[in-house]
Amino acid sequence: MPIKQTSVFLLIQLICYFRLGTCGKVLVWPTEYSHWINIKMILDELLQRGHEVTVLTSSASVLIEPSNESSINFEIYSVPLGKDELQYIFQKWVTEWTYDFQKYSLWTYYSKMQKVFSEYSDIIESFCKTVVLNKSLMKKLKGSRFDVVLADAIGPCGELLAELLKIPLVYSLRFFPGYTYEKYSGGLPLPPSYVPVVLSELTDHMTFVERVKNMLQVLYFDFWFQVFNVKSWNQFYSDVLGRPTTVYEMMGKADIWLLRTYWDLEFPHPFLPNFDFVGGLHCKPAKSLPKEIEEFVQSSGEHGIVVFSLGSMIKNLTDEKANIVASALAQIPQKVVWRFDGKKPNTLGSNTRLYKWIPQNDLLGHPKTKAFIAHGGTNGIYEAIYHGIPIVGIPLFADQADNIHHMVAKGTAVRVDFKTLSTKNLLTALKTVINDPSYKENAMRLSRIHHDQPMKPLDRAIFWIEFVMRNKGAKHLRPALHDLTWFQYHSLDVIGFLLVCVAAVVFIITKCCLFCCHKTANMGKKKKKE
Ligand SMILES: *[C@@H]1O[C@H](CO)[C@@H](O)[C@H](O)[C@H]1NC(C)=O
Ligand SMILES: *[C@@H]1O[C@H](CO)[C@@H](O)[C@H](O)[C@H]1NC(C)=O
Ligand SMILES: *[C@@H]1O[C@H](CO)[C@@H](O)[C@H](O)[C@H]1NC(C)=O
Repeated sequence: MPIKQTSVFLLIQLICYFRLGTCGKVLVWPTEYSHWINIKMILDELLQRGHEVTVLTSSASVLIEPSNESSINFEIYSVPLGKDELQYIFQKWVTEWTYDFQKYSLWTYYSKMQKVFSEYSDIIESFCKTVVLNKSLMKKLKGSRFDVVLADAIGPCGELLAELLKIPLVYSLRFFPGYTYEKYSGGLPLPPSYVPVVLSELTDHMTFVERVKNMLQVLYFDFWFQVFNVKSWNQFYSDVLGRPTTVYEMMGKADIWLLRTYWDLEFPHPFLPNFDFVGGLHCKPAKSLPKEIEEFVQSSGEHGIVVFSLGSMIKNLTDEKANIVASALAQIPQKVVWRFDGKKPNTLGSNTRLYKWIPQNDLLGHPKTKAFIAHGGTNGIYEAIYHGIPIVGIPLFADQADNIHHMVAKGTAVRVDFKTLSTKNLLTALKTVINDPSYKENAMRLSRIHHDQPMKPLDRAIFWIEFVMRNKGAKHLRPALHDLTWFQYHSLDVIGFLLVCVAAVVFIITKCCLFCCHKTANMGKKKKKE
């Protein structure tokens, strides 16, 4: 940091220390990999604005490196798992998901996914217990008088910490499979008639058959799939709080939900006042490239370059796949910057260079970049949207296929399946997005939409966190649906009551009519007799 910046920073810290200003203390419950990369952007900005940030980190954390972050406070709790073990578990999941799960039909695919989520749930639960059941650590956290908990909702615990420390809660969230917790904890209304459930690879314009498919998946996720092992979590939360509760209920206490998407990636759907969209908050204008890469990029001439990365979790490919990819890349006139940390493929062309790490955002923002070959992770998708770059999507796991499907629907991407990946497929896809101008036009249109917002996504995220700290929560935005039972929410009691009323009226009218008819008939008979 330059001296001037450092002194300003110190001044802010001093003001905060004596609580003269509006600086707050933020406690963070993070998640690994791209989730950490994303939330760290928020933390860096909070620090810039003079807030104090404390991150609860397990001793096994893969990507969170306390020694690399001088301004963040880390509260490291020891877990029996080693760093290598945790990394191995994550790698095992993504490798299986990428190479194995995709072979199966949808329902088997989901049941394989269920196993991963179940294992993940148990690990996070054990981490959460390590923190919450450690009396001295909890006492220390209470003593620190935090103003807010910022938690990645995909790993529960943040809501329990907020409840125990009696402070407000802000969630950062990409999605839950099937939108289950968005719907049942957050209360988000998502009608299956036009909101395709996340992971379904459907769009908002569905045919009858697609709506049936969507409905079946909604039912599957609502009643069968378990994102977390809720029985175990519910027991744990109830024990700690000393009253019966559920993880659904606890998550429903969040003051603000910051969703890491926006209408550029999402299809329009209803949302609630305590939900906001912060997709792309990590995107920045491109900085200049390291000299060696810049020279390589410039050497591409008028053809430009293609950027290729499969994200923070997949650094290499099997030899077979790598050779297929490399021989497709060798046949295009563009130069290719490929982030790859594996054995050099035999078919690698002279136009392709391998890098263990690439400045992805700066490359995507480079005027010579023509296309992005991506796995479809949300962070990468947003960098492509931000810079208006067409995508060739090779989805591997999690929400990636669904993200790519959205981009295909919006006309900025061509999808190539990893399972059936061939040199010809990849080459055709690349030529299409590079040579058909509609892809670039659509990408630029999305980019304009993304930039044309009253507030930048990062500023919006910070605004809500600061808002919650200033106002001790955001209860005024909390819809009353949280106080209703499910049958009240759907007005089943009212409908039932009205039906009973109608039935009663019909019954009374019928009885009256019958009575009258009977009387008239009797009178008729009497008259006849007379
Ligand atoms: C921490 O910093 C070192 C040196 O800059 C770097 O090599 C390493 O990759 C960083 N670790 C993480 C997890 O970011
Ligand atoms: C509990 O937390 C304290 C303070 O962070 C730590 O020193 C101690 O080792 C922890 N105890 C256990 C059993 O993990
Ligand atoms: C990628 O590299 C790791 C570490 O070298 C290795 O264990 C793994 O098998 C490789 N993955 C593939 C798909 O080749």
